[in-house]
Amino acid sequence: MALRAPFWLQLFEQAGPAASGGRREQLVAALRTAMLRGVLSPGQQLPSSRQLAADIGVSRVTVEAAYGRLEAEGYLWRAVGRGSFVALDAPAAGPVARVRRVETPAVLSQRGQQLAARGGCRDPARPLPFAAGSPDLRAFPLELWRQLLARHLRRGPTLLGYGDPQGDPRLREAIAAYLNAARGLRCTADQVLVLSSSQQALQLAALMLLDADDPVWLEDPGYRGAASAFEAAGARRVAVPVDAEGLSWSPDQPWPKLIYLTPSHQYPLGMALSLRRRRALLAQAAQHRTWIIEDDYDSEFHYDGKPMPALQGLDEAGRVLYLGTFSKVLFPSLRLAYMVLPAALVGPFVEARTTQDGHSPQLAQAVTADFITAGHFAAHLRLMRRLYAQRRDALLEALRPMADWLQPQPSPGGLQLAALLPEGEEPALSRAAAARGLETPSLSRLYGGAPRRDGWILGYAALTPGEIAEACQQLRQVRL
Ligand SMILES: Cc1ncc(COP(=O)(O)O)c(C=O)c1O
Repeated sequence: MALRAPFWLQLFEQAGPAASGGRREQLVAALRTAMLRGVLSPGQQLPSSRQLAADIGVSRVTVEAAYGRLEAEGYLWRAVGRGSFVALDAPAAGPVARVRRVETPAVLSQRGQQLAARGGCRDPARPLPFAAGSPDLRAFPLELWRQLLARHLRRGPTLLGYGDPQGDPRLREAIAAYLNAARGLRCTADQVLVLSSSQQALQLAALMLLDADDPVWLEDPGYRGAASAFEAAGARRVAVPVDAEGLSWSPDQPWPKLIYLTPSHQYPLGMALSLRRRRALLAQAAQHRTWIIEDDYDSEFHYDGKPMPALQGLDEAGRVLYLGTFSKVLFPSLRLAYMVLPAALVGPFVEARTTQDGHSPQLAQAVTADFITAGHFAAHLRLMRRLYAQRRDALLEALRPMADWLQPQPSPGGLQLAALLPEGEEPALSRAAAARGLETPSLSRLYGGAPRRDGWILGYAALTPGEIAEACQQLRQVRL
């Protein structure tokens, strides 16, 4: 039965004006959607172009052009003297059914296959107690952030366009000034590259500094995000143990192309790299032309005195790439992190960054720059340091009754602490904790080669002292 004019008009109007290409694109979209949803079925005849043009009030040329496009895309077939029909093999029963019908295996590159098989590294979106690495978002000054953002939006569309791939110059100035004053770096804004995450920084460094099979030293146990970035780039991971002085390499070990480490607060065990080792590491790196990535991921949160100044400030040979993130000190979804690069690497890294995501969001960068330069950043850090120090103490206190099976390691700062479990008990205790609604990130899984220690990395920063006490009540029950 021929469909009547109001049907076609409604179909056309529902599609709404196309972003570009005018009425022709609107008609193409309307017909394509109707076929995908099964409103028009395979084999069904469409009106002649003259008729449809009259029904919906466009020119016949427009309809001809739309039919031509759909024919080229395989949605229609047309025969002179007979008319235009929905193609018999046009996808008809809706996009969901269409996706289900096509079950061809994904043909991945070798690199892609390895990457997918190895698995990535994720942070929990809605963290349970004691998820690691989560700041307390409830304490974030949202109203202040809203005002700073509104001020930029009121100024018009300037920040809606493309931005500097190296990062907003005001933000780079603010970061350099902060790092020089607070972390003992020696850098200028020209050396700062603003990125969306530490993970992006690690990937960029791996892409630019490593070839396939190049050896990379990683702390053992260590940060899985770093291991996955370097492995994804095809580098060879060499697990180097840590002791009370941090990274502990042996003198006869062949020196690598790159070393990744967390010298201020080893992730996950919490010790600092001693001054003696810092000097030895820098001297050897200069001699062997080894790059060092210093991940200073949470040095803002030291509670017992100041953290040791950054390694970058001691580096005379330009071997250190310093890495910091706003994920913990502001909030993770801001997606802003930064690298301070030796001068010679800045140009190549900025070029490479343009082949990835181009640049970081301009509005987020502008607001973050205001937040720092107006002094809100320092005030926020002071407040969070106080809160988190209380929470660490509350956790240590609440863990005391479990001392015969759960031993917290010394932790001068951070958002989480490592606690050791009796050998062999981690899997069963973790399952029992999960059954009580607790997340207990595994310590043993962070080991690469060194003898594994069973334990947990207990995040406390996002929990109030009351929540910590409650969660610890639950935790006590898992090994009665
Ligand atoms: C050692 C270390 N580096 C970096 C990060 C965070 O980075 P991002 O900026 O990718 O959120 C984390 C987060 O848990 C971390 O533990």
